[in-house]
Amino acid sequence: MEQKDGQLTRELLYEGRIVQFSIPAAEILQSRTLEYLRRFTLELDIFDEQQNARYLANLHRIRELVRGDVEIRGSALQALESAGINLAGVYADDVRFRCIPPNFQEHPQASGLLCWHRDTFYSNASCQINLWIPLTACDRSNGIAFFPDYLDVAVKNNSAGFSLNQWNEAGGFQAFSESETGVKASTGLTYPSALVSPDLDRAFCPEVGPGHALLFASRHLHGTMPNLSGRNRYSLELRFCVVEDLQKADPALNVDNGSAGCFTREFRHAHSGERCPEWLCDRYERLTTRPAG
Ligand SMILES: [Fe+2]
Repeated sequence: MEQKDGQLTRELLYEGRIVQFSIPAAEILQSRTLEYLRRFTLELDIFDEQQNARYLANLHRIRELVRGDVEIRGSALQALESAGINLAGVYADDVRFRCIPPNFQEHPQASGLLCWHRDTFYSNASCQINLWIPLTACDRSNGIAFFPDYLDVAVKNNSAGFSLNQWNEAGGFQAFSESETGVKASTGLTYPSALVSPDLDRAFCPEVGPGHALLFASRHLHGTMPNLSGRNRYSLELRFCVVEDLQKADPALNVDNGSAGCFTREFRHAHSGERCPEWLCDRYERLTTRPAG
């Protein structure tokens, strides 16, 4: 895959193309993460109160280890480059680790993961692209689901109630606290989602497994399928923006998001590690904000 003049990113962002490709450093990503999983097992029953507390504590440890692992970040960036993305223009988030336990959809605390959303609903830029790396074989029984019909179609949602500042003050995406009264692993704030139920028969659920990855516009309406596979599903993701798209600040990419803030300000340059300039994020937010649908 060779990118020509931003052609790939245009196809991802404007046509909603979902690209599946084989990644060069898959073994490093797999082996490093599996090593963390051996140290902090997630093979626990989340429906058992004590095991669930241990699960949440271990998940938090693994997420922190993955975030800080320069080899994992380097391998994820290498995967982007191999897809034809020019890293010189890339600002990327930390690599995030995710575990989707079997039957999470029936767990009162975990069922919040089962929400259809655009990442824009929680202050991610409309021009953001996600690299999604499965560490487990994924399909309709446990994988990621997209609703491409809604790429440019507004859906009713509660994103207008989301403020990035408020979210970060409550602990942000890595919210976690451990005390004598137990383990708390969420901000307690509303995680914005679509207020409509899209037709699951129309969902596109790529069959993808270790060694491969997906690239997609994070403004796609998407989410996690109920996990009926009987096993934990593991994945890594790297969210990023290309500087030309931030400069362009095209409001047409924001279909129905009303959240406040621009999460890209936390992203770091692929090469220099410098934060994305504040002024660029402020300008992006100003030019692309619109009332929620
Ligand atoms: Fe998402």
